[in-house]
Amino acid sequence: MSQENEKFPIDLELEAPLKTVCYPGFDTDILSMQLVTEAHLEGGKAVIHLRPLSAPPEVSEELENRIAAAVREATNAEEVEVHAPVPPPPKEKQGPQPIEGVKWVVPVASGKGGVGKSTVAVHLALALASQGLKVGLLDLDLYGPSIPIMLGLTNAKPDALEDKIAPIEAQGIKVMSVGFLVGADKALIWRGPLVMKAVRQLLHEVAWAPLDVLVLDLPPGTGDVQITMAQEVPVSGAVVVTTPQDVALGDAIKGVDMFNQVGAPVLGIVENMSYFICPDCTSRHEIFGHGSVEPLAAKLGVPFLGELPLDPAVRLMADQGKSREALTGEHGEPFVQVAQKVLERLKER
Ligand SMILES: Nc1ncnc2c1ncn2[C@@H]1O[C@H](COP(=O)(O)OP(=O)(O)OP(=O)(O)O)[C@@H](O)[C@H]1O
Ligand SMILES: [Mg+2]
Repeated sequence: MSQENEKFPIDLELEAPLKTVCYPGFDTDILSMQLVTEAHLEGGKAVIHLRPLSAPPEVSEELENRIAAAVREATNAEEVEVHAPVPPPPKEKQGPQPIEGVKWVVPVASGKGGVGKSTVAVHLALALASQGLKVGLLDLDLYGPSIPIMLGLTNAKPDALEDKIAPIEAQGIKVMSVGFLVGADKALIWRGPLVMKAVRQLLHEVAWAPLDVLVLDLPPGTGDVQITMAQEVPVSGAVVVTTPQDVALGDAIKGVDMFNQVGAPVLGIVENMSYFICPDCTSRHEIFGHGSVEPLAAKLGVPFLGELPLDPAVRLMADQGKSREALTGEHGEPFVQVAQKVLERLKER
């Protein structure tokens, strides 16, 4: 086959001048670097195509000037056109991205509503902080944020920093809630894309660092918020809360299953409202039927993190925004024990 009519990508006349052009800051010429894909001289015009360059604009400009000067000097070209395409932006990284400066992310979840996730999340955060850890608490219950009330922060307004939102610092922890941003009393209808955006921003665009642990208070169930959370951050381990009633247990299984589905580890299950100590006669009442959760945890192959009593003082102080007070003394002891188990499990991992 004849190669007579084949057009070489680089005209012979241009080869020599291009060979004299070094890449700015380097001793190697651009032909040796295989930067030139095509170079043709047509009439008085030289057209040179380069590979996509991810160089700073001033470097590209300098390179184009060097090429033009070398070509003009060696040929009769009046015009030199250099095409240096900008490479496509790197593909957005896929998969969960760690939150910078945050060591552990611990969501508190349940299949069923009203079993005490927010109560457990708040007390877990406060108890871990009382052990000297740097703790953040993120209220991801977009549909019914309750953290502002439980910490007495209903009027808190976070400050905007340069590129992030500053969390509220209260009771020894950093706190963020959609309730601070839109008002806890506003019932918001969040739809798919908005939910994803809000969850992403609350995780990644709040100035959390430095933190040992970020506790997430989730809405009940297995919806958009949970899925987005699992896609956005690597979960260190989830705490699943349930009450001992049969109806709640079925949902607890769903809760554990959800984390299994997204490949996030479960630290364990907590039995809330497990029993009630009568304040008058100190006798113990097992209102919802105590003791069914530990065997369930064993069956699901996840650790049992302990049982929490139904304690009117805990509810009262939460309603008054005095959650940290509820943690001290006998009322807080069961919560502190659960927090210790959680911390042990986090350290094991
Ligand atoms: N161990 C407890 N002792 C006393 N009251 C409790 C206890 N746990 C939760 N409560 C009370 O029960 C109610 C529901 O609790 P909480 O808001 O923590 O549940 P939740 O699972 O977060 O609910 P939701 O699904 O609506 O987010 C609150 O009034 C809370 O104070
Ligand atoms: Mg809640």
